[in-house]
Amino acid sequence: MLIVSNWKAYVESSASAKALVTAAQKLGKGSTHELVLCVPAPYIGMFSGQKGFSLGAQDVSATLGGAATGEVTAGAVASLGATYTIVGHSERRAMGETDAVIIEKVRHALAHGLTPILCVGERERDEDAQYLKTVRSQLSSLFDALTQKERMEVIVAYEPLWAIGKTADEAITAEDLREMVSYIRKVLGDFVPGKAAAKIRVLYGGSAEAANAPVLADGSGIDGFLVGHASADPLTYTALLQALK
Ligand code: PGA
Repeated sequence: MLIVSNWKAYVESSASAKALVTAAQKLGKGSTHELVLCVPAPYIGMFSGQKGFSLGAQDVSATLGGAATGEVTAGAVASLGATYTIVGHSERRAMGETDAVIIEKVRHALAHGLTPILCVGERERDEDAQYLKTVRSQLSSLFDALTQKERMEVIVAYEPLWAIGKTADEAITAEDLREMVSYIRKVLGDFVPGKAAAKIRVLYGGSAEAANAPVLADGSGIDGFLVGHASADPLTYTALLQALK
């Protein structure tokens, strides 16, 4: 499986960052899982060229460079060896990131050889299943804007907002996840012909921990996890990866 760590802003010292990288390198040895660490921007430079995992950014700028104080461009992170970037995380959308901005970010990411991990997910579940429309609309807005080749390069991370930053008991059930993953694949099938839609990787994120990850992985159709808080501490990260062995 593809296990993407999203350290968010939990990791605030280079010593803590190094401890997590050491854990990943140890766990990665002989593991069948592919590990990606999406770290705060400064740590990309720090871990550039290290083996045993791939490096990713948590976001990239929608601008192409130039006079844009504080922005970190796709070119800058790619030049330090990042090969992935999260795009459209709900915590960025909450700060005003629109679907149009997400399209720009994905374009820049792809132009610099970064694999975009597009986050989609509903704020809450309603009885009329309007949440399916939210997910369809977030997927469609990006996939509509991309070429067939670009579509195949995107990884989709389903992250229901109501399950983020909680505990394993409050996360999604395996059955609800299975249904959503098959819905996401149906929507992707509207953009990608035939069997190709099944090749687009779909991850789950939202309180994935050692306690629930094996159950969620079993038969839900996901290709991996986007892990937040459990990825930001060597103990919980180690427990999660060991549980998925
Ligand atoms: P969480 O975060 O695992 O802390 O719920 C997941 C995410 O937001 O990427």
